[in-house]
Amino acid sequence: MKRVDDFRLKLGNKELVPVVIGGMGVDISTADLALEAARLGGVGHISDAMVNTVTDRRFDTKFVKDKLKQYKFNVANSNKSVVQFDLGQLAEATKLHVGRTMDRKHGDGLILVNCMEKLTMNAPRETLKVRLEAALDAGIDGITLAAGLHLGSFGLIEDHPRFRDAKLGIIVSSLRALQLFLKKSARTNRMPDYIVIEGPLAGGHLGFGMDWAKYDLATIVAEIRQYLLDEKLDIPLIPAGGIFTGGDAATFLENGAAAVQVATRFTVAKECGLPDNVKQKYFEANEDGIEVNMISPTGYPMRMLSNSPAIGDGIRPNCEAYGYLLDASGNCSYITSYNREVAAHPGARRVSVMDKTCLCTQMRNFELWTCGHYTYRLKDTSRKQEDGTYQLLTAEHIFKDYQFSTEGDIALPE
Ligand SMILES: Cc1cc2nc3c(=O)[nH]c(=O)nc-3n(C[C@H](O)[C@H](O)[C@H](O)COP(=O)(O)O)c2cc1C
Repeated sequence: MKRVDDFRLKLGNKELVPVVIGGMGVDISTADLALEAARLGGVGHISDAMVNTVTDRRFDTKFVKDKLKQYKFNVANSNKSVVQFDLGQLAEATKLHVGRTMDRKHGDGLILVNCMEKLTMNAPRETLKVRLEAALDAGIDGITLAAGLHLGSFGLIEDHPRFRDAKLGIIVSSLRALQLFLKKSARTNRMPDYIVIEGPLAGGHLGFGMDWAKYDLATIVAEIRQYLLDEKLDIPLIPAGGIFTGGDAATFLENGAAAVQVATRFTVAKECGLPDNVKQKYFEANEDGIEVNMISPTGYPMRMLSNSPAIGDGIRPNCEAYGYLLDASGNCSYITSYNREVAAHPGARRVSVMDKTCLCTQMRNFELWTCGHYTYRLKDTSRKQEDGTYQLLTAEHIFKDYQFSTEGDIALPE
């Protein structure tokens, strides 16, 4: 049986180990994690989700404080339409986050940034354009367009000097989504350099409805592969979602995939941005402690640990500080749910909101533990120590396990 290391991902003039660590916002796929993937000859992602707050935490900037100061007068107001991002600051934060990461890059691999369209930021087109352009300006190797159809995203950056040389890819969960993207982007005369096909077992938001369990990654990959063959399009395909062992990955590569994108295995890496006590929750998870629900205000189903503190937590919306999910008219469905509960419980010091979550605040504070379907198998990838906790792994250990293991084997740490 073949192993992942028998294959290479060809992107432009690069030959890469065909392991891509997927983007995990908010700063769960840290620069450190992505840099390890690049050092080992593969592909790592950082994420630009909530980049202002990530930059504040990492580089001592004061973007969030400044924004809150500017809009403090609006905190008690449920209409958030005045709360706009300063585009200059957004560009500055993105350049810092991306630039400082690229400055530290060693090795032959690539660093990409995961850019989610659903972060509509009260001005979807303007903010997305700034995020994409600033990442290119700061020297990112490429951009993975995520969480949305991105029908206009190529158009937003077609005049950028790096539009044709940077690697640009798209995440889709169906042939139909891909066809729409290709049709709408055709005008720019540029194909995506790679296509990530994310199936229903992935972490984060899902590109399916609540009937996600009816779908199967291998079937979607085969369908898209056939379509590209019929259209004589040669674009590398990168399946993602539930690829848990090197053996799983090798099977996809043998069936024509160019690489695999993986994430859940790396949530328990030392370099991963989750706090160590949260990494233990991922290790401890059982199958019945993982759910897919609709509490994300994006409208997409999201997979998470059922014991996430965010579930039911009725905190006051924090859009003056964050506000990444405000739509073009300044609305977020969490605000509606929160106001409904406050009105139903007059005088209550704290309300519970079950149907939606304040995603920005909860992700920022690592209180919403999004995860892949196979999180309950993480305990089989490490050792339980004498104090009852699991040993954290290095990103290098996990990466090499994908690269060199065969069958369903998983190498335990030393
Ligand atoms: C903790 C976590 C956070 C994630 N966040 C994002 C994200 O911000 N954007 C995105 O496009 N995908 C996100 N994903 C999806 C991954 O990038 C990846 O495609 C998927 O989880 C791969 O499946 P696996 O986790 O079963 O290996 C996330 C996944 C996890 C586990």
